[in-house]
Amino acid sequence: MNSKLRLTATTLAVLSIVLALNLNSFAPPSIPGSHDQLHTADIIKIPGAVGPESLAFDPNGEGPYTGVADGRILKWQGDGLGWIDFAVTTSQSRKECVRPFAPEMEHVCGRPLGLRFDKKTGDLYIADAYFGLQVVGPNGGLATHVVTEVEGQPLRFTNDMDIDEHEDVIYFTDTSTRFQRRQFMSSVLSGDNTGRLMKYNKSSREVTILLQGLSFANGVAMSKDRSFVLVAETTTCRILRLWLHGPNAGNVDTFAELPGFPDNVRRNSNGEFWVALHAKKGLFAHWVISNPWIGNVLLKLPFSFKQLHSLLVGGQPHATAIRLSEEGEVLEVLEDSLGKSLRFISEVEEKNGKLWIGSVMMPFLGVYNLP
Ligand SMILES: *[C@@H]1O[C@H](CO)[C@@H](O)[C@H](O)[C@H]1NC(C)=O
Repeated sequence: MNSKLRLTATTLAVLSIVLALNLNSFAPPSIPGSHDQLHTADIIKIPGAVGPESLAFDPNGEGPYTGVADGRILKWQGDGLGWIDFAVTTSQSRKECVRPFAPEMEHVCGRPLGLRFDKKTGDLYIADAYFGLQVVGPNGGLATHVVTEVEGQPLRFTNDMDIDEHEDVIYFTDTSTRFQRRQFMSSVLSGDNTGRLMKYNKSSREVTILLQGLSFANGVAMSKDRSFVLVAETTTCRILRLWLHGPNAGNVDTFAELPGFPDNVRRNSNGEFWVALHAKKGLFAHWVISNPWIGNVLLKLPFSFKQLHSLLVGGQPHATAIRLSEEGEVLEVLEDSLGKSLRFISEVEEKNGKLWIGSVMMPFLGVYNLP
């Protein structure tokens, strides 16, 4: 590309950023038919911690358990007892891991993302962004390694998983082979497509790469009948479906195109899927994502993480949860369009008529009562 064009683009980008930051003029519109109700969610504060990314209930229905930004996995014991420390993913002295949010310490303290219980054993599987796939027993404590590398290369950004208890395999994502979690903005803006979906066979301990070339491989969820597994591709705002059994086994197709950036995907008891959007995709994000070279220019300019993030999400923090049918149709969209209580949500877990809602950035969980 010639330098004049690049200069023009840079100027445009800078102008747009100024507009986005000061005027919210690129705030994404409401989604037609959505219910702007999520702000009514109850809040469960997590004192001294932020970023409850994923939520899981144990086989006895206790919890939820959640991983936070300082590397701990906590267990909620209800209003009376509050939170207790349950597990950690590194033997690192926790003295260095006391700040609620310290991205520069994540590779030391750990950063637990996707959580899933093995319902047969009660073991908790943990996708730690820096330490790979891990497991800890029902009493918690220090988790042990399950998968740290594939084909001789260390996992770079382990993100989420689902467990097939019948076949004793775990499907999990490595978001990128180039960027670590604290550089997630660089992965999105640069058009990085080195994400992978993998399968771990518990009895043979083999890891198989099922899909590669994914643009920010993120949430993972199997269908109720185990015929397919979904993987969220955050940068392209899509959910992909990999068929595991039946006539299409081995094929991959687009399950759903979404109005924003999907994070985790969780199935409810009806076999439907809740997708949490980190943010909706506004005009500016659309323009940048469609032209990765613009993102690469932006990354070279002296913008802070906060500014780039604000630009990408359209200035106005908000929360969006989407319920998809087993066939991938949108059944329901719930929003907190002004981010009055929830923002940048990462997971929606439906249990007993409530949605338990996590976020990589909020210092609390949301609990929304379904009507
Ligand atoms: C897992 O590995 C075992 C032992 O090699 C094999 O018998 C089994 O078929 C594998 N399972 C899957 C689902 O690949």
